[in-house]
Amino acid sequence: MIIAVDGPLASGKGTIARALATRFSLPYLDTGSLYRATGIAVLDAGIDPADTAACATIARALDIGGIDEARIRTAEAGAMASRVASIPEVRKALFDLQRAFATQPGGAILDGRDIGTVICPDADVKLYVTADTETRATRRWHELVARGETITLDEMLAQTRERDRRDAERDDAPMRPADDATLLDTSSLSIDAAVADAVAIVEKRQKA
Ligand code: CDP
Ligand code: CDP
Repeated sequence: MIIAVDGPLASGKGTIARALATRFSLPYLDTGSLYRATGIAVLDAGIDPADTAACATIARALDIGGIDEARIRTAEAGAMASRVASIPEVRKALFDLQRAFATQPGGAILDGRDIGTVICPDADVKLYVTADTETRATRRWHELVARGETITLDEMLAQTRERDRRDAERDDAPMRPADDATLLDTSSLSIDAAVADAVAIVEKRQKA
């Protein structure tokens, strides 16, 4: 079984995908971490994100075992991720890795922006997780402040809108629900309720 979970920033897709991975004993890949790590590596190498060829070289050389989890979770890494993710050569460089993970024997669960549309158009279950902009910005703001970042809620709201816009408007693999995805709006759902809804959607698909 391949499960694709997509959605915008702090919609709850990662929380849901991890819970489904445990529930259905599937290996899980957070594909956003690949773009975040590429963004940070571009920054560290002093490369201009407008230099698309240099960014693609960095993506091709990405060492996924060496990703610094704390560093890629910053607001800066999120913004850089979205910038490098709009470069088609970068997306191409990260495609095979994601596809190989998805098609391993026994299945897998992946979350991101284009899993149901581009990486796994053949997924058995597709979820598109959403929540309203203010709710998402507030969730991410709490996370970043708890990690010691200095950022105001207004700045987080502006970053959320900017990232949503860039991810949805890029030409290559824009963020959008697949035609056959089930939408799950978590705006007024607790984590437990959101996970329960997601489990029910997967079980319904399994029976069908
Ligand atoms: O957790 P959050 O939703 O903030 O972001 P993420 O999933 O870690 O992804 C960071 C950025 O990587 C996104 O804003 C996208 O620009 C990009 N991304 C993508 O283009 N395609 C994916 N499959 C996953 C992430
Ligand atoms: O992966 P994505 O960026 O879509 O979001 P996440 O990392 O799963 O969730 C972002 C934050 O929202 C986390 O702190 C979650 O605990 C929280 N969350 C929530 O408050 N209510 C939900 N229904 C889902 C997530």
